[in-house]
Amino acid sequence: METLRSSLTGSVGTVPTMGYLHEGHLSLVRRSVAGNDHTVAWIFVNPTQFGPNEDLAQYPRNEERDLKLLDAEGVDVVFIPAPDDVYPPGFDEWVEVRGSITERLEGAHRPGHFRGVTTVVARMFRIIQPHRAYFGRKDAQQLRVVEKMVEEQRLAVEIVAMPIVREEDGLAMSSRNVYLSPEERRAALVLSRALQLAEASVLAGETDAGRIRAKTEALIVAEPLASLDYVSVSDPRTFEELTTIDRPALLLVAARIGSTRLIDNVLLQPVLVIG
Ligand code: PAJ
Repeated sequence: METLRSSLTGSVGTVPTMGYLHEGHLSLVRRSVAGNDHTVAWIFVNPTQFGPNEDLAQYPRNEERDLKLLDAEGVDVVFIPAPDDVYPPGFDEWVEVRGSITERLEGAHRPGHFRGVTTVVARMFRIIQPHRAYFGRKDAQQLRVVEKMVEEQRLAVEIVAMPIVREEDGLAMSSRNVYLSPEERRAALVLSRALQLAEASVLAGETDAGRIRAKTEALIVAEPLASLDYVSVSDPRTFEELTTIDRPALLLVAARIGSTRLIDNVLLQPVLVIG
């Protein structure tokens, strides 16, 4: 990779993924290709960000299809490292961000997850040395954790945040959607629907975060195939829980639909009251 990297002159954008690409990933790739001289895509199902009872072994893979899609988008280099390339034997060099931003929500439900993400992203930045890296708002907490890691480690990489890409009916695209049975696929819509309703309430003037949380929870709990992990109204920078929506706030949800764990979120923008 070192020799390859030195042959790439001009700006380099990178798109880190775990593969099994969908339109969400490809939207990041397109932005990178449009905004940089070269784009390096990264496909690595990173073992250190999976818990012992999570889906590492079953995580969907289709390298051949991914390579075709990336080639069609004009990506210059696709890096598919082996675990030893990223984590050499004897590896013990973790990169960690501390505080509520990594401890709450995904951090609380998936212990060690963010430590795995920041470590792999920091190592990837060292290998690829990109000018810009593209991340989706679908994983809003991950995006903020990566931004913080870049600040704390003083890395010279610009993090570009990209909007959530959804299926036509509203379901946020995810590689894990492939696990859903047709019945679960229908049930999974409860997440985006609940977010949409909350967004409408805030646009209609609701500012009480507790009421928004309660309404969202009630909708998700009413779906028999869903089992709720959390609903949160959080500060988009610190990920601390808010009581009043008097500034932009993230409404975040995580639930298992059958045995598939899905996450989604929306930025709630309070209406301006003048006078
Ligand atoms: P993965 O889940 O493959 O996602 C790769 C990138 O695609 C992430 O930045 C994610 O937020 C973005 N993405 C996924 N679904 C999206 C959607 N529907 N709309 C917009 N963007 C979407 O996230 C990871 O991999 C890993 O944690 C990784 C950062 C690669 C580190 O291993």
